[in-house]
Amino acid sequence: MTVQKVIPQMEKNFQQKAGVTFADNSPEFLLALAQEYGDIARFQFGPFKFVLISSPEMVREVLITQAKKFPKANRDVRLLSRVLGQGLVTTNGDEHKRQRRLSQPSFHHRRIASYAETISDYADVIGSELQPDQTINMAEEMEALTLYIVSKTLFDVDMEEMIERSAEIGHAIDVLQTLADKNFDKLFNLPMWIPTPDNIKNKRARKVLDSTITSIMEERREGGEDGVPKDTGDLLSMLMLATDEDGSFLSDLEIRDQLLTLFIAGHETTSNALLWTWYLLSQHPTVEAKLHAELDQVLGGRLPTMDDLKSLPYTEMVLKESMRILPPVWMLNARQAIEDTTIMGYPIPKGIQVFVSPYVMHHLPQNFPDPEKFDPERFSAENIDQIDKYAWIPFGAGGRVCIGNSFAMMEAQLILATLAQRYKFELDPSESVRLQARITMTNKFGMKMKVVERKRPSNIYRLENAVLEPVN
Ligand code: HEM
Repeated sequence: MTVQKVIPQMEKNFQQKAGVTFADNSPEFLLALAQEYGDIARFQFGPFKFVLISSPEMVREVLITQAKKFPKANRDVRLLSRVLGQGLVTTNGDEHKRQRRLSQPSFHHRRIASYAETISDYADVIGSELQPDQTINMAEEMEALTLYIVSKTLFDVDMEEMIERSAEIGHAIDVLQTLADKNFDKLFNLPMWIPTPDNIKNKRARKVLDSTITSIMEERREGGEDGVPKDTGDLLSMLMLATDEDGSFLSDLEIRDQLLTLFIAGHETTSNALLWTWYLLSQHPTVEAKLHAELDQVLGGRLPTMDDLKSLPYTEMVLKESMRILPPVWMLNARQAIEDTTIMGYPIPKGIQVFVSPYVMHHLPQNFPDPEKFDPERFSAENIDQIDKYAWIPFGAGGRVCIGNSFAMMEAQLILATLAQRYKFELDPSESVRLQARITMTNKFGMKMKVVERKRPSNIYRLENAVLEPVN
């Protein structure tokens, strides 16, 4: 892809200049574009016209102030619907608002808090299976763990049961994700009714997931009374029991699409957030030592609970900084102007697609000084106010902000706290980082890491400046 036109007046081959191509490294390509051309840059890819916006004020305009004029782009909605059906990610306008209203209570703080124990327990089970000095593929470990957690919290399907089913379900998810990524890479996609090999694979994989979800829903109905499904305390129960102000509820088809959406949106993202956090910790021993000190002091070897999280500020800072430097969702779904408008005075013609990239926002020095430095202190209580609300956007912003953001933060903190108490993970010398930025951003061939058992100190250590001295 070459940049054909960039506001205000460029007609150069940007690709050559920046030394990166969109296909090879999309996040770096867009970052170079923003660095070279400022807050708003326009370019073209085949028949599609785009602008990349990269100032917090403009992000606010598109995602909040003028959000009605910038729904999700038709192409993104069409391609994602092939995988996710008509759920929260793929609807726009009033339909999206209705679904959001009905789904929101499932993510209420109290509801989420009840999952904390499962999360720590599951992380502990995975931790118990690791052997000191073993080399693991961290991407696979985190993917499996977050899949078990999402299955238990969404459907109340236990880890043991999931291990039996996970080969089939995991394969179906993999197929759908790979096909979705592939579709986004192509300029044109044949409609689903044409029986291409990929369309057939897509339909088969959806069938596996659809029938799994449908059979679980049927069990709930059978287990309930007076036509009211059984409440087993999971997200599925909440969705099946949710009613709107006018008494309407989600249809079976909507619940199925919603669950599939949450299932897919809810585990790959968190697993990549954790993958990058382990990687960054392995490269920054001082940060790692400070994290260990906090965990040892607050938890002293026991499993973390929901209540502990407020006493683990550094754990949260590490995760926030990791999601800044390597955001799992490196680019939001494109938005599309439904009428001629302006963003901060720049003309935006109807139909143009607008890119908002957390990766770009998080790597611009005007938003985060010394942006390549991994520095959790940016998110300390003293410093956090210096960060613009629309500059740090790993979960998006506005009416379409990630519905699972509190769940994800809690889950990631609990997993990090559980595993980092027992182990540190060293990057295998043969490993290197090759960003694979598709719908989510991961490392191209997983990540080999060595499991190193930690010797927990017998006395308590001070947190300040990560100086490990016994407290008298
Ligand atoms: C670290 C983990 C996660 C990250 C980084 C993340 C990131 C995001 C981002 C950036 C968006 C907005 C996309 C856009 O505006 O185009 C989003 C939306 C969404 N996320 Fe997450 N997410 C995470 C975890 C989760 C979890 C755990 C769930 C559910 C269990 C979830 C469910 C969703 C849903 C349903 C949407 C669509 C919301 C809407 O459009 O109303 N996510 N996520």
